[in-house]
Amino acid sequence: MKIELPSAFVELDNRIRSEKFVRAVLSGRRRNMQSEYERIDIKPVLIKDEIKWQVISSDGKKDITKNVAADFNFTQLFESGYANLLVDTQDESYQVRISKKDEALVAISKVKLTRDLSHDRQKMRMLPENNQVFKALELSDILGRIKPSKMDKYKQVDEFLRLISQTLDPELSKQDEISVVDLGCGHAYLTFAVQEFLTDKYQKVSILGVDERVDSKEHNEKVAAKLKVDAKFIAAKIADTPDQRVDIAIALHACDTATDDALYWAVKNKAKVVMAAPCCMHELQTQIKDSPEPWGLLTKYGLVKERLVDLMTDSLRAQILKLLGYRVDIVEFIGGEHTARNILIRAVFTGAKPSQIEITRYEELLTQWQIEPYLAKLLADELKAAAAL
Ligand SMILES: C[S@@+](CC[C@H](N)C(=O)[O-])C[C@H]1O[C@@H](n2cnc3c(N)ncnc32)[C@H](O)[C@@H]1O
Repeated sequence: MKIELPSAFVELDNRIRSEKFVRAVLSGRRRNMQSEYERIDIKPVLIKDEIKWQVISSDGKKDITKNVAADFNFTQLFESGYANLLVDTQDESYQVRISKKDEALVAISKVKLTRDLSHDRQKMRMLPENNQVFKALELSDILGRIKPSKMDKYKQVDEFLRLISQTLDPELSKQDEISVVDLGCGHAYLTFAVQEFLTDKYQKVSILGVDERVDSKEHNEKVAAKLKVDAKFIAAKIADTPDQRVDIAIALHACDTATDDALYWAVKNKAKVVMAAPCCMHELQTQIKDSPEPWGLLTKYGLVKERLVDLMTDSLRAQILKLLGYRVDIVEFIGGEHTARNILIRAVFTGAKPSQIEITRYEELLTQWQIEPYLAKLLADELKAAAAL
């Protein structure tokens, strides 16, 4: 639904001030505007018997927390350059995306959320520690607390859910059903958490987890039975995954070119959203013997070369998706203290035609470095068609 921006701001403001307000998230950058922080989270807090609003501003590295009272001007905050504005009340999620033309694209969905008025500085979690999913996955103990040894995994899953929630654009939010495919799902921590997270937002959530390991499939089917949820698992190579309808394709730490297989499968099956956090990468490393000058200045150091080529691999993956009509960004999805593999490629299909400069940049980089990324080989026909448009 498209409405005037000021009306959307009034709606958001009313909801934030309502007694049912649960949380708000402001993120993404509005065209030609620069917001002061990467993201702002707001939640209600009870301080000395008075309701206040806790505003957590994050620049991606650290959070600044401030409690504000009813006289605070939220509208000013809404106007300060964020493209995605989400306000959840206990029964409704009100999501606004501000378009390039400064229109408010609104999506409203039914949710069932609990209002938490505690004001400790714990980060708001997308799924609480005591959620049944974490118990079934044996991440949490009998009292519903995440086991210390599993805390990193929990934080990683939580951050991934946060990024998914920011990516559910109005188009996707409008659907009654959603289909998610997790490629290289392992023991399906993320898979089940995504299913649980989306169940609140959609009438039907279809889940498929793919992993080449038969023991993963067996483990995951047992967990699905314990949770009484309808999630399907297959033991197969990502490249052999049967084609199917998919809204969100995810791949968390699928090894080396398995990430490329996942991206290829997602593109081929017209995934609307692709979220991939790559793992170890060797493919391009082995292709690069000599670097074009003056890059020898960096590549003469083995460690620097390795990191540079890893970044190049992910940037090329992102560029390939861009050339094929996806809006792409690369984000750090969890701080380096939890895992060194902390890049996430997030792509949303828009169908936008690539500009000539983007095509030229991509082609020149391949020519200068004398490389052909594995994903480019897989998507050769699609890339040729996109360049010819
Ligand atoms: C590092 S684990 C990550 C598991 C899970 N995504 C997570 O983050 O918890 C990588 C998983 O990908 C699977 N895998 C690697 N290459 C694969 C391929 N080509 N096809 C299917 N599964 C693959 C492995 O069996 C393993 O379970």
